[in-house]
Amino acid sequence: MSEIAREVVPVHTASRDYDVIVGTRLLDEVGDRMRAALAADAAFVVSDNNVAPLYLERVEASLRMAGFAVASTIVEAGESHKNLTTFGAILEDMASAGLTRDSIVVALGGGVVGDMAGFAAASYMRGIRVVQVPTSLLSMVDSSVGGKTAIDLSRGKNLIGAFLQPSLVIADVDCLSTLSPYAFVDGIGEVVKHGVLADEQLFDELAAHPLAQDGDPAQLARIIARNVAIKRDVVGADEKERGVRQTLNLGHTIGHAFEAASGYALGHGHCVAAGLCHVARASEHLGWSEPGTSDRIERCVAAQGLPTSCDIPLDDVIAQASHDKKRHGAGVNLVVPTRIGAVTMRHVSLDELATLIREGARSPRP
Ligand SMILES: NC(=O)c1ccc[n+]([C@@H]2O[C@H](COP(=O)([O-])OP(=O)(O)OC[C@H]3O[C@@H](n4cnc5c(N)ncnc54)[C@H](O)[C@@H]3O)[C@@H](O)[C@H]2O)c1
Ligand SMILES: [Zn+2]
Repeated sequence: MSEIAREVVPVHTASRDYDVIVGTRLLDEVGDRMRAALAADAAFVVSDNNVAPLYLERVEASLRMAGFAVASTIVEAGESHKNLTTFGAILEDMASAGLTRDSIVVALGGGVVGDMAGFAAASYMRGIRVVQVPTSLLSMVDSSVGGKTAIDLSRGKNLIGAFLQPSLVIADVDCLSTLSPYAFVDGIGEVVKHGVLADEQLFDELAAHPLAQDGDPAQLARIIARNVAIKRDVVGADEKERGVRQTLNLGHTIGHAFEAASGYALGHGHCVAAGLCHVARASEHLGWSEPGTSDRIERCVAAQGLPTSCDIPLDDVIAQASHDKKRHGAGVNLVVPTRIGAVTMRHVSLDELATLIREGARSPRP
């Protein structure tokens, strides 16, 4: 059996301090770790019908062993269920379980479960605590940290939600072995983004050794912890996304447009990767990035098995990008890489954005 790996990333925010624990064989310790960090009467686990059959029993047993009263609810998996109906059902189940202000919600699953359970916790009795137990790569490196929670409306994704920092995050990398290969690779999109955003060393390591689902768990844990620290540093400086937190949108303005124009057929991380390459090419054409930057990004993205471009008509991409909910006034704040490990934010008009999207469709080296 491999060594036990443990990484702890402390997070300090204006509203709460908490630890993100990343490692192997952690699921059986969820109860003890919660007991050590938090006082509570009951734990209410929210999971989905893919994750629950694999891991719910172990988490429930661990919580009971640690002395928590335990109740659970299982939702249908998938973004299409991240809606008001499921949200309402979770809240009704929480009330039926008799949760009080001293109870804790435990989100066991990917980003969909984490966002929905987090929002339910933020709403129940005007806000109780949530512990995130992310089981997908995306939720480990991104959605479980930072305190954003949300559900979708028919008019768009994540249109309602709340800020609720988790009280603890426990990421057991062993869970990644059961993730579909597509979902695993999808999560790498955000990992590459973090490297380009803030960490050239992480980027170079990824480029040389693409993340592998069956790779060394200790190394995976280290890389996930590094990603958590990057997100922590950005969020810590701007919890409510008024300024620097917007840099986490690197690759997302165009990536979201790919996602929407594909009718959400393409995974978010795949779209972010392609969006990142697209904005890097455009930025280099315009002289905003160090020469060679987009080439390095493309190579790294391709090495992970992610797309460097997206086969969607540019007019559709431009139309979607112009509707981005993160629009600011008459334009958008676009995050562009100046080099690997550094970004800058540029406010561009919608016309400039359209030009940029056309530029990004050209190859970097004429
Ligand atoms: N709150 C934030 O800051 C933030 C940031 C990024 C993304 N998000 C949200 O995260 C969501 C996407 O997250 P996701 O990619 O994890 O999607 P997901 O939760 O839908 O998980 C992907 C699929 O993998 C399954 N799964 C998860 N873990 C598994 C495991 N260990 N073994 C087997 N199957 C497993 C799920 O049931 C699902 O079918 C989106 O709704 C997005 O809006 C939120
Ligand atoms: Zn994202």
